[in-house]
Amino acid sequence: PDSDLRASIRTIPDYPKKGILFRDITTLLGNPRAFRRAVDELASPWAGSKIDKVAGIEARGFILGGAVAHRLSAGFVPIRKRGKLPHETVRIAYSLEYGVDEMEMHRDAIAPGEKTILVDDLIATGGTAEAAVKLLQGIGAEVVAAAFVIDLPDLGGAAKIEALGVPVRTLVAFS
Ligand code: PRP
Ligand code: HPA
Repeated sequence: PDSDLRASIRTIPDYPKKGILFRDITTLLGNPRAFRRAVDELASPWAGSKIDKVAGIEARGFILGGAVAHRLSAGFVPIRKRGKLPHETVRIAYSLEYGVDEMEMHRDAIAPGEKTILVDDLIATGGTAEAAVKLLQGIGAEVVAAAFVIDLPDLGGAAKIEALGVPVRTLVAFS
């Protein structure tokens, strides 16, 4: 039962505001078998193929993406909130529930044509992942997939990513 991914995710009602059911992955991360299983399942379709880079989205995508990169013997590339990266960056604005934010990555982090997998903990509206895919494709990365532990399918995010030509893998859906 400890390895059941769905059961390892905690749901917090009314966080960060009333009416939201917040899916909290800290309980999954803290469970050794669930963490291992999530990383293995995110990576498994590409276990035999050569993946050059795994790109993870700040902040929870760093934890999972770093582990997936290690699992696939790939490099890891952080996609960060604006202003955190020291070298030359590419930047994109994206919509959040309230207002907009900007994310960026180092321009030289991925060479044109390198096979790249995008990883984050959760896809909701898909706005965050869509912006990340556009950044990656913009510097010439070949984005072979986007992988998330959690899908909130009612919000339609996965379709937004597939419309960019990127297959989506998710492990647990909450409707
Ligand atoms: C959460 C989550 C995804 C994003 C999904 O991150 O980790 O990155 O929202 O939402 P979307 O599909 O509607 O764009 P958040 O913006 O809370 O940032 P954080 O991980 O730094 O807290
Ligand atoms: N959990 C974590 N991050 C999120 C959620 C959630 O339920 N919804 C949108 N981003």
